Amino acid sequence: MKIAVISDLHCSDTVITPANPPRHGHVGIQILEKAIARINSEDRPDILLVGGDLTNLPADVHHLDACAGVLKNSACPVVIIPGNHDPKPEIFYQHMPRPQDYYDIKGIRVIPFPDDLHTAGCNALRPEKGMQRMAKLADGSMPTVIFQHVPIFRFEQDHIACPYNYENAAEIIDFAAKNRVVLAISGHYHPAFGPYYMSPLPALAVPSLCETPFFYALCELDSDGSIISYTLKRACTAVE
Ligand SMILES: [Fe+2]
Repeated sequence: MKIAVISDLHCSDTVITPANPPRHGHVGIQILEKAIARINSEDRPDILLVGGDLTNLPADVHHLDACAGVLKNSACPVVIIPGNHDPKPEIFYQHMPRPQDYYDIKGIRVIPFPDDLHTAGCNALRPEKGMQRMAKLADGSMPTVIFQHVPIFRFEQDHIACPYNYENAAEIIDFAAKNRVVLAISGHYHPAFGPYYMSPLPALAVPSLCETPFFYALCELDSDGSIISYTLKRACTAVE
């Protein structure tokens, strides 16, 4: 199965300052248009995951409408979740299509988590309700990918230079080990990391699309959910 992932567009009315490296959210829609055109014409994935922070400020919901207008041109199913810069899910999904509970494609299940909580320090938490939902949907019957805004990895063992994580990452990873959850896909950490093959849950964080060199990610999985290839592609080479 081929998965395309876009994240952290940070659309804004004006140039975002301070921002180092620069965030090109003021031309975020143009970058997104180029990414979708390229994904449709060159990559032809089975599914497109959009990992949140579509807008830079939660109140700027008009950017969500603009993003939705571009994303509806995707030739494959699109799964869109909010990030910590977006409005809360109840507002976010007035402007975006709410994802299905899960997607079964070529023997792989993809489960989005749009309702996890954002906590202090730009970390996250999968609340009890979310853990129960994961337990119900990731039932071990097929390899499963979990998709959320904030990365999930073991704080101490995994040696990943990302300061953001799930407060209950250990609990999620323990569950993954027992239930054929084979990959955690996230955004949020703009410099990106991985994919890292830490046992038992490989994890990756895709780059921010609004920062040079305007990368989105392509991830191809075999029928066991193991990564065959992971490629970063440029949506465009330059912006105004
Ligand atoms: Fe974020």
